[in-house]
Amino acid sequence: MKSAFVVFSACLPAIAIASNGSNQKTPKPDCVRACSRLSNNFGPDTHSPGNGNLTVWDAKQQEVQSACRVLPTSTEDVSGMLSIILEESCNFAVKSGGHAQHRDDSVSVGGVTIDLTRMRATEISPDRRTVRLGTGHKLHSLYSDLEKHGLTALGGRAADVGIGGYTLGGGLSHLSPIYGLAMDNVFEYELVLPNTTVVTVNEITQPELYFALRGGINNFGIVTHITVRAVPQRQYYSGARTYTADKRDLIINQAYKLTTDWKNDTAMSFYYSLGYNQTTDEFDISFTQEYSQPIMNPVPFEELNQIPFESDTNRIDWPSKFSEEVNLADPSGSRNHFSTVTYYPSPDLDRKIQDIMKDEIQSVKMVPGFTPRIVLQPVYEASIRAQKERGGSASGIDADGPLTVVLLLTKWENAEDDDTMNAYIDRWIEKATTATKDAGKYYPWRYINYASKRQDPFSGYGEQNVQRLRDIQRRVDPQGLFTSSGLCRGFFKLN
Ligand SMILES: Cc1cc2nc3c(=O)[nH]c(=O)nc-3n(C[C@H](O)[C@H](O)[C@H](O)COP(=O)(O)OP(=O)(O)OC[C@H]3O[C@@H](n4cnc5c(N)ncnc54)[C@H](O)[C@@H]3O)c2cc1C
Ligand SMILES: *[C@@H]1O[C@H](CO)[C@@H](O)[C@H](O)[C@H]1NC(C)=O
Ligand SMILES: *[C@@H]1O[C@H](CO)[C@@H](O)[C@H](O)[C@H]1NC(C)=O
Ligand SMILES: *[C@@H]1O[C@H](CO)[C@@H](O)[C@H](O)[C@H]1NC(C)=O
Ligand SMILES: *[C@@H]1O[C@H](CO)[C@@H](O)[C@H](O)[C@H]1NC(C)=O
Ligand SMILES: *[C@@H]1O[C@H](CO)[C@@H](O)[C@H](O)[C@H]1NC(C)=O
Repeated sequence: MKSAFVVFSACLPAIAIASNGSNQKTPKPDCVRACSRLSNNFGPDTHSPGNGNLTVWDAKQQEVQSACRVLPTSTEDVSGMLSIILEESCNFAVKSGGHAQHRDDSVSVGGVTIDLTRMRATEISPDRRTVRLGTGHKLHSLYSDLEKHGLTALGGRAADVGIGGYTLGGGLSHLSPIYGLAMDNVFEYELVLPNTTVVTVNEITQPELYFALRGGINNFGIVTHITVRAVPQRQYYSGARTYTADKRDLIINQAYKLTTDWKNDTAMSFYYSLGYNQTTDEFDISFTQEYSQPIMNPVPFEELNQIPFESDTNRIDWPSKFSEEVNLADPSGSRNHFSTVTYYPSPDLDRKIQDIMKDEIQSVKMVPGFTPRIVLQPVYEASIRAQKERGGSASGIDADGPLTVVLLLTKWENAEDDDTMNAYIDRWIEKATTATKDAGKYYPWRYINYASKRQDPFSGYGEQNVQRLRDIQRRVDPQGLFTSSGLCRGFFKLN
């Protein structure tokens, strides 16, 4: 029988890896059986032994070997596949865009990877105000589907990021000053519950789950479709300018002004980063301007654009094209580790947070491929207002003023440097957090999509919200499948 071959080939690669991987699991006989049944029931076309043609961003996840990967094309597939996986007690992971950075987040260690990549429905409502999307969309497929119709939806910057993790975790967008985060703009979820029942989750049908999915990420089952706000979109202004490090103080002051003074212009958004270049042993700055209108040199950036720069890609173009450009800056294949802090805006603190990175890299800058970049971006006052108007979210971002969100993105090349890099990231997190407290600017919310596994972003949601989330989680998942000791352990777990 054909399935015997599938079973055999499915277990080979994982066993080979298991011999030297530290916490790599050998595929249990349960998973071998699950994969064989999945292949029989859903056809060889939706099943591949091991990882198949998996595309994920991070090298640590690329190294993981699954027993098999399945490619559902409908919600019924997802539910049916989950039934088999659970009947066989096999561990699994769910992948949308595959931009998470840690083993088992979206590529299952020895179990089944449920890859949503073929779930790319785009259904625009007749009144053009909402769009129903499959959660296998990447930002690029979302943008290109919608821009043909003069529409867009809240999305992030890099083309290959999946709307699954992006939207369930929060979603910072160039449209956030007008509409809040992406999760504030989801009206309905289609969810496969841990018991494989499919439910429609909106404010009326499932108010508890509707609360939970806006910030609670992958603790409640598998989201197969989301219905989100559609927004008219023509070409708009964006691009990046690069600067030498001696312009840092000028840039920091401009960023502060844009964060705090331009409350009235919600078309404007930006982010900027300070990066270390190992080849030149120097730092450089990249500043991305976004103005959601087709206007060259918009007024908010006039002062900024007086500062002498090195290169410039600002232009009027389509969302999909900008996302392709941003994608080039972070190609797949490195080892990556995100970590984050949030604080009330302060130019002194921006400098301090960056200086901590600069000081800490001195002892590790010879690590092959070491490329740290510290990215700063605001959560605008208007964005917080828009979130409140939509009823807020489980994340509890409720500041009385704008916030600065910092992402420390660390890249390196080799597994043997993982411990050194983790220690460096730990030091930055500790010192950066202390600096925000010392300055009296500390804010507890940490963006879960930028957080390190060594941080606990849920603790920043507020005690009441976390308790409520944990209670809802236990109610819909009494067997604890989507928990830290369950069959789907990836990313951040509430219980
Ligand atoms: C280059 C780059 C650029 C980025 N730019 C931005 C940006 O502009 N704005 C921003 O806010 N963030 C940005 N991010 C962060 C990004 O939002 C997170 O990395 C996000 O979690 C990635 O989602 P994904 O679907 O690609 O990843 P995945 O690894 O597929 O998913 C992340 C986690 O969510 C779970 N998950 C995904 N889909 C589902 C689902 N349908 N049901 C249940 N669980 C699911 C997965 O199991 C996994 O544990 C960026 C990240 C990178 C690497
Ligand atoms: C594990 O072993 C295989 C084969 O012996 C080797 O190719 C691979 O590089 C090793 N991986 C790690 C992470 O050491
Ligand atoms: C993997 O890629 C090959 C070559 O592009 C293709 O023929 C095959 O159908 C793909 N398999 C799956 C399961 O997508
Ligand atoms: C916004 O406010 C600034 C000053 O705070 C002013 O210069 C600018 O013209 C205003 N823009 C709009 C669109 O009202
Ligand atoms: C570092 O600088 C060199 C020389 O200017 C350049 O070629 C290279 O692209 C830079 N690397 C990064 C990661 O920006
Ligand atoms: C699955 O769980 C939901 C929510 O807990 C419940 O309403 C539903 O009846 C369950 N379905 C089955 C088939 O047990």
